Amino acid sequence: MGKISLEVNGRKVEKEAPDNTLLSTFLREHLQLTGTHIGCDTSQCGACVVHVDGNSLKSCTALAADVNGSKVTTIEGLETNGNMHPMQEAFKKLHGLQCGFCTPGMVMSAIDLLQKNKKPSDTEIRDWLEGNICRCTGYQNIVAAVKEAATKM
Ligand code: FES
Ligand code: FES
Repeated sequence: MGKISLEVNGRKVEKEAPDNTLLSTFLREHLQLTGTHIGCDTSQCGACVVHVDGNSLKSCTALAADVNGSKVTTIEGLETNGNMHPMQEAFKKLHGLQCGFCTPGMVMSAIDLLQKNKKPSDTEIRDWLEGNICRCTGYQNIVAAVKEAATKM
């Protein structure tokens, strides 16, 4: 056991957790932030992507202890005064989701892309989201949503 201290969605948290606790498990089971999804056990699906100190990370690939002291943003932390983030608005407007299981990870990854590349091409969007698997949409509307968000962010 060890103490995990993080800033999560702007709130300081401190909890004891077993040393082998994954960040994804810590968020979901210790903080009840279940918007971060677990879609695989092979680090392939990307449903678990969050931001750690501003960069996207598959939260199933890091131990909570490894990111001790970091600032973490999950999908729950994107809203401002009850309003969705422009990326969430764009996914909603352009039907960038169907079942929604992949969506938290897609949105978090896509925001990180636009932080690094304000006007990505279709190819750059598809390349960046390569680590995020969607079984429903065929990706076309996801790419369209990211491009729409790029005009708003
Ligand atoms: S849960 Fe699938 S990559 Fe993390
Ligand atoms: S919307 Fe269903 S997996 Fe992507």
